[in-house]
Amino acid sequence: MAVVITNGKIVSSKGISQKDIRIVGEKIDKIGLNLIRPNDEIIDAEGSYIMPGGIDAHTHFDCEIGGIVADDFKTGTKAAIMGGTTTIIDFAEQVRGGTLREALDEWNEKAVGKTYTDYGYHMTISDWNEKTSQEMEEMIKEGIPSFKIFFAYEELQLDDGSIYEALKRAKELGALIGFHCENGTLIDKLREEAILKGNREPIYHMETRPPSLEKESIARLITIAELVDTPVYIVHLSSKEGYDEIKNAKRGGAKILVETCPQYLLLNKEYYLPKGEDSFEGAKYVMSPPLRDMESNKVLWKGIRNGEIEVVATDHCAFNYRGQKDIGKDNFTMIPNGAPGVENRFNLMYTYGVKENRISMERLVKIISENPAKIFGLYPKKGVIQIGSDADIVIFNPNHKTTIKAEEQTQNVDYNLYEGFTQFGKFEYVFLRGQMIVRDGEIISSKPLGKYQYRRIHS
Ligand code: URP
Ligand code: ZN
Ligand code: ZN
Repeated sequence: MAVVITNGKIVSSKGISQKDIRIVGEKIDKIGLNLIRPNDEIIDAEGSYIMPGGIDAHTHFDCEIGGIVADDFKTGTKAAIMGGTTTIIDFAEQVRGGTLREALDEWNEKAVGKTYTDYGYHMTISDWNEKTSQEMEEMIKEGIPSFKIFFAYEELQLDDGSIYEALKRAKELGALIGFHCENGTLIDKLREEAILKGNREPIYHMETRPPSLEKESIARLITIAELVDTPVYIVHLSSKEGYDEIKNAKRGGAKILVETCPQYLLLNKEYYLPKGEDSFEGAKYVMSPPLRDMESNKVLWKGIRNGEIEVVATDHCAFNYRGQKDIGKDNFTMIPNGAPGVENRFNLMYTYGVKENRISMERLVKIISENPAKIFGLYPKKGVIQIGSDADIVIFNPNHKTTIKAEEQTQNVDYNLYEGFTQFGKFEYVFLRGQMIVRDGEIISSKPLGKYQYRRIHS
């Protein structure tokens, strides 16, 4: 039996059209007019937008720090699909002294059979050596053509020489490396100084990670990538200073792909200021890079609008405020880094992007789904509504209005970064490879049906 979605407005990066979509099995079989046949299941999408399922290219599920974890793959991907995201790409982290294979085995242990969305991994490289270099090729054979390197965090960051070599290897293999751009060596100095001075509150997380240190490592990355002559991807861009660096390099022809996240568009550093009774509340926003000023919010929106920022992901990395973040009650350096967001990305970008006339529906589909699919080797299987593609489809009623409340969310974490924000839109239906997972805004799948996605980057 086929499913036919009728009367909706299909959105692609090229425009909006009113046509039927016929789904047979896991795939989109036909797009056109008058596609309904006897025995078809008909979904009337009158008044709704029909879009390709979201792809969140930056999540950290089951991200354990010192034995604590909030969202695992099951709860995290359930929240993702409730929020219109049908594929996630998570970071499998190499432990220094360990191998990429061990990291992959560990992440498979965490994820296989537990995901409501389809999924893949990027491999984080924290130990650059001959073995890692060989293993990059093995990972590509496993369908993992994307990697991540940190300029920050003592236990993860690599030096410039290693980054240069890793990029040369990536070029040879046709792989893409994403970079966390903050100068970790200087951040560690600033943190030490802050603690010595008795500056221990969450606000010092932001003060010790200034935008100049994002700008500096972006500039360094651009220099190294230029020497190697290979494209790079910058994860979670947060600041105007960083953006300006990228903008100039891009305009000079540098091959840089850029991601930002809703928190860097919608929140700002005021959130670290002590409020009322609870001077620790800023801990909810302890993530790296930290929140910046409103000028940065504005400039990043501009980057999305003009196409200089290609992707909006979440960097979902959830820890509870009570019982987890508060490990750092007396010392901000102990607060687990990271914040939730996978559930709200699509609605927030619609509400504060499209409805506030910052971006078009077409651009929304590009940054939420099509671009991450293209960049990370999922396209045209995913990221687009076209004949032959996976039937990963969301039916989005744009008129539904709610207020974000942690107590009502699916994410398994005790707060929401956007508490009290208005959001428009409801995912009336979400299909994953033709299977209806969400109906009338409720999850109806009794078990996780997500499949691992073998990816290949076409250069
Ligand atoms: O604070 C964050 N972002 N935690 C997750 C790890 C990372 O840097 O992406
Ligand atoms: Zn990062
Ligand atoms: Zn991250």
